[in-house]
Amino acid sequence: MLELKNITKTFGTVVANDNVSITVHRGTIHAIVGENGAGKSTVMRIAYGFYKADSGEIWLDGSRVDIRSPHDAIANGIGMVHQHFMLVDTMTVAENIILGAETGTATNLDLERANTEIKKLSDELRLNVNPKALIEDLSVGQQQRVELLKALYRDAEILILDEPTAVLSPQEVEEFFGILRRMKGQGKTVIIITHKLDEVLAISDEVTVMRDGKVVGNVKTAETDARGLARMIVGRDVLLRVEKDDATPANIVVSVKDLKVLGKHGLAVDGVSFDVRAGEIVGIAGIEGNGQTELIEALAGLCKPYGGRIEFEGRDVTNLSARRLKELGIAHIPEDRHRRGLLLNSDLSENSVLGVHYRPPVAASGFMSSNAIDKRVGEILENFDVRPRNPSLSAKSLSGGNQQKLIIGREFELDPKLLLVSQPTRGVDIGAIEFIHRKLIELRDKGRAVLLVSAELEEVTALADRLLVFREGKIAGEADPKTTSVEEIGLMMTGGGRQNDA
Ligand SMILES: Nc1ncnc2c1ncn2[C@@H]1O[C@H](COP(=O)(O)OP(=O)(O)OP(=O)(O)O)[C@@H](O)[C@H]1O
Ligand SMILES: [Mg+2]
Repeated sequence: MLELKNITKTFGTVVANDNVSITVHRGTIHAIVGENGAGKSTVMRIAYGFYKADSGEIWLDGSRVDIRSPHDAIANGIGMVHQHFMLVDTMTVAENIILGAETGTATNLDLERANTEIKKLSDELRLNVNPKALIEDLSVGQQQRVELLKALYRDAEILILDEPTAVLSPQEVEEFFGILRRMKGQGKTVIIITHKLDEVLAISDEVTVMRDGKVVGNVKTAETDARGLARMIVGRDVLLRVEKDDATPANIVVSVKDLKVLGKHGLAVDGVSFDVRAGEIVGIAGIEGNGQTELIEALAGLCKPYGGRIEFEGRDVTNLSARRLKELGIAHIPEDRHRRGLLLNSDLSENSVLGVHYRPPVAASGFMSSNAIDKRVGEILENFDVRPRNPSLSAKSLSGGNQQKLIIGREFELDPKLLLVSQPTRGVDIGAIEFIHRKLIELRDKGRAVLLVSAELEEVTALADRLLVFREGKIAGEADPKTTSVEEIGLMMTGGGRQNDA
């Protein structure tokens, strides 16, 4: 149905796509996989008319088409859902969906018609989206379905999804896959970019593997497995499990006492108490939106607690600023790298010293030292394998996974006493996941305290020495990840009943 032929695209000196050819068959789910920066998003943005290829052709149903803009793509039945949603929070679902589809301002009549049409589409695919709901009241998973509806409303026959499951909880992923299968049942074609091999195996019919801007493999999903895919992606064998020794926890580094934090709708953290010791990783499991974000933000000094107390190395730090806490030795890898983690328009050098630019070794007597900055950015790019390794690039020109590696590198470079880390491997390729996991274990083994939040249950159980399960702003239970199954933890997360640790 869709053929990309010999697509080449360069950004400055970076060859993002090097003679890429991909054939997608009608009515199939086609996965695109590959390392961070391999060129997956770029080639799909070309198919969607978001970028123009330097050379190459796009064919649809056997004839060549000219796609110069997303408008052309939509006219040709191609829709795309980007990884970062583009919805207006304060408007309703229907308003967002007709936004840009209609010419001129939408009348009440348009809106009435859209409401009916959206309801119908939503019912057909069992999306369960209310056209009249405000975007800001929807969960991330629901917002994603709105993005899907937006494409379907414009009669997309081919849907391109760029890492659609990165922000979904395991339950939402299941529902989402159900939707994709129903779309396939209606004869639609789906292209899905993902780093999750189990998802590739569960949902796709065919897989294209990219590396360094080129296509390095194309297989029928039924004829491969996780190990084989991993080897094709990274070019070597990858350890798909975490290997670590038992923790040897020492003194208490941070102590949280009856902490309460306000969120958008009242108390998001509702009286939580726990400690994290030097030399251990404490994991927080839970469905997203159960207070984890607010907890971490309070600990990082990004919002003031409503009640309770935070002690760091025995002293009260409850109301200290983010900067003070960083100076004391608390580093933070945030979940939302665009909002909290990076200055997108600044270069990698500047981003490498963000938060420490005013003090030694980066600055002396009030002046920044360019030698010190060069040294630091060089170390981060090298040790954390950020590609391309060019300090003068802007952060926004890095691929998603490389942005994440840059933030992680910067925070590790602080050699913190306590690391607060949310969703460390979201959007990161399997080779880099292995690497980041090893770094976190190394930090623990150096005697540092780590508080880890991850929506990936497999990840948090593999890394954590102790698990706290969050539900509705409270700790619903504590579990030993070595003796508690993922299913049992899942039950605690949803309130399905606490199982006793054997
Ligand atoms: N707008 C841009 N300006 C400059 N360079 C870019 C731009 N977009 C992408 N690149 C570069 O092109 C290469 C391919 O990036 P792309 O975003 O396609 O990778 P990807 O395979 O989607 O990676 P990820 O899995 O991390 O999302 C990278 O080296 C990236 O830095
Ligand atoms: Mg990408």
